[in-house]
Amino acid sequence: MAWRKYCWSKRSASGDESLSVRGLLGIQDLPRTEIEAILERAKFFQTPQQRGTALTGRMIVNLFFEASTRTRVSFEIAARRLGADAISITASGSSVSKGESLVDTLATLAAMRPDAIVMRHAASGAPHFLARHLDIPIINAGDGTHEHPTQALLDARTILDHRPTLEGLRVAIIGDLAHSRVARSNIHLLSKFGASIVLCGPPTLLPKEMAQLAPGVTLTHDIREAIAGADVVMMLRVQLERQHEAPIAHSEYFGFFGLRAEHIPLAKNDVLVMHPGPINRGHEIASEVADSKQSVILNQVENGIAVRMAVLERVTVLERGTVGGAA
Ligand code: MLT
Repeated sequence: MAWRKYCWSKRSASGDESLSVRGLLGIQDLPRTEIEAILERAKFFQTPQQRGTALTGRMIVNLFFEASTRTRVSFEIAARRLGADAISITASGSSVSKGESLVDTLATLAAMRPDAIVMRHAASGAPHFLARHLDIPIINAGDGTHEHPTQALLDARTILDHRPTLEGLRVAIIGDLAHSRVARSNIHLLSKFGASIVLCGPPTLLPKEMAQLAPGVTLTHDIREAIAGADVVMMLRVQLERQHEAPIAHSEYFGFFGLRAEHIPLAKNDVLVMHPGPINRGHEIASEVADSKQSVILNQVENGIAVRMAVLERVTVLERGTVGGAA
């Protein structure tokens, strides 16, 4: 089974790393068939009252070393809707603040036998590192500037609620590409499904190398060119907390790269405006666009629960070898 092979196989007695438990670490190595299965299952979970019993008696630990509202809360709701006990730990409230190493903190938690650990960390690769040390599936809820796989999955679910396929769509991703794990996961996902991806941002926030990330990616510094004919416009926040250089002044940034009402007619008539949040009104997006009929920003938040239910179920149920069973 592909999921088991790529993401969910048990560590062998010899400790062979390629067979370690991985959970869901990223989109880059996730086969298209697995993405399709998650998106399909998420559709089933989309009605707000939809619940399941797949995680009854199970324990999910949310371990967040970085700030989060949407992601942490939606993982908690998703786990509870499937019947699990969900426990959230933030770095400031854990022994990490007393100097404990990451591996020791995780090993301590692992000794309590949770069924999965959902983890966010400022260091790119932190969940991959832990997955090699622990015999518990790790779900990456955002690692540094690397990946945020469940965000890309919920974005795809949101697009597919409005379009029959991702194939051939023109998707503009605009903003701070350099520091965006959301952009990286989306680029990998959209590329696997044959979308054209236009990345747009100031030269300091759009490294040329990003054109090589996946097939179908092009770069521009001109927001109008990026939006022209777009089916989807995804806006990104400038991640000041990850920048080491002096940031571009707000008004200047908004003038060149902020999405404003005047841009919308350049895109397809039924363009979808997306943003992973948190949004900064008047910096990367005008309020009138964020609140417009083209905006699906709150649909993204809502879909986060359904997608995370699908991911949690897939990760934990597979352990029992009953994937595909009723919720
Ligand atoms: C993230 O965690 O990467 C967010 O959802 C996007 C952001 O912080 O701008």
